[in-house]
Amino acid sequence: MRTRRSALTLIAGAASLALTLSACGQSSEGGSKENSGSAKGGTIGIAMPTKSSERWINDGNNLVKDIKAKGYKTKLVFGEDNPDTQVSQIENLITQGVKGLVIAAIDNKSLNNVLQEAADANIPVIAYDRLILGTKNVDYYASFDNEKVGVEQGTYIVHKLGLDSGKKGPFNIELFAGSNDDNNTKYFFSGAMSVLQPYIDKKQLVVRSGQTALNKVTTLRWDGATAQARMEDVLTSSYKSAKVDAVLSPYDGISIGIIAALKSDGYGSSSQPLPVITGQDAELASVKSIIAGEQTQTVYKDLRKLAEVAATMVDDALNKKTPQVNDTKTYDNGVKVVPAFLLQPVSVDKSNYEDVLVKGGYYTDAQLK
Ligand code: GAL
Repeated sequence: MRTRRSALTLIAGAASLALTLSACGQSSEGGSKENSGSAKGGTIGIAMPTKSSERWINDGNNLVKDIKAKGYKTKLVFGEDNPDTQVSQIENLITQGVKGLVIAAIDNKSLNNVLQEAADANIPVIAYDRLILGTKNVDYYASFDNEKVGVEQGTYIVHKLGLDSGKKGPFNIELFAGSNDDNNTKYFFSGAMSVLQPYIDKKQLVVRSGQTALNKVTTLRWDGATAQARMEDVLTSSYKSAKVDAVLSPYDGISIGIIAALKSDGYGSSSQPLPVITGQDAELASVKSIIAGEQTQTVYKDLRKLAEVAATMVDDALNKKTPQVNDTKTYDNGVKVVPAFLLQPVSVDKSNYEDVLVKGGYYTDAQLK
């Protein structure tokens, strides 16, 4: 009896040890750095670009929550829009022994060396919202259909001006694009121009500044003050005797700068209304601006879903599961096509913000007051 009981105890003990080991995610094969299910309980490094925009703060918090829920610890850093800072932050994360990395790059081409260090340490890398270029050491990409974001902005302008319902114009439009070191910039711009260019060709839309090429209209680091200064210059040089009817803005923070320039030039009254102004991210201040009748539209991207996708990707990559992707063609980073999961953006204006943002639980009515 005694022998049998101790044998049973031994078996039970071994079973519970095995359970404990697997709960800790320890691999019985002993591989520690391999993607062998050994990373649970380890730390995932999250590198976000800046705290100067509310969206990236929310992204960081969402990622921490979702990755912790999968059984990891997290280390969240913000690069303050300085590429060198971001590189050294990622180097530190690697030195601290993170098991995986989720990165929203500041400069899409500055991470090659540090990502080689990550690869040497068998750390999977998820590019978050912004594709990292020029390296094989990026495993997956979580983002939105970025071309579609631009299409939504362009379509909104055309519709709001009535060009798709028989109005002939000509209407004056000015074009803004995002940061030239962000891979998304060209997708947003080409998506928007795919809709706007035919009207520009027919002279139903006129860009009085003449600034239509992407390299003439980018906004370094998506900075609102930079956009404001450019809008002021354009108003001074090209709109002494004409008014602006629409502004293509790729992002809410840029729209805020553009609106400030327009208001200080006298726009925003009943005799001189603000033009149609697009945006992106549905940041709180900009949704309030839309409700107040200043910014006209934004493109909402549900960042809660983006964080979930990225958290699942890093967890799968660390547990020998192939992450789910829905695009294996579009995002060529110059070295390889990075498998991507793309979510859908939604155009939001005064007419549907309640339905999309409030009923969708993104903001409460009280926040928007
Ligand atoms: C882009 C991103 C946009 C916007 C912009 C500025 O990479 O896709 O949604 O957030 O950065 O932060």
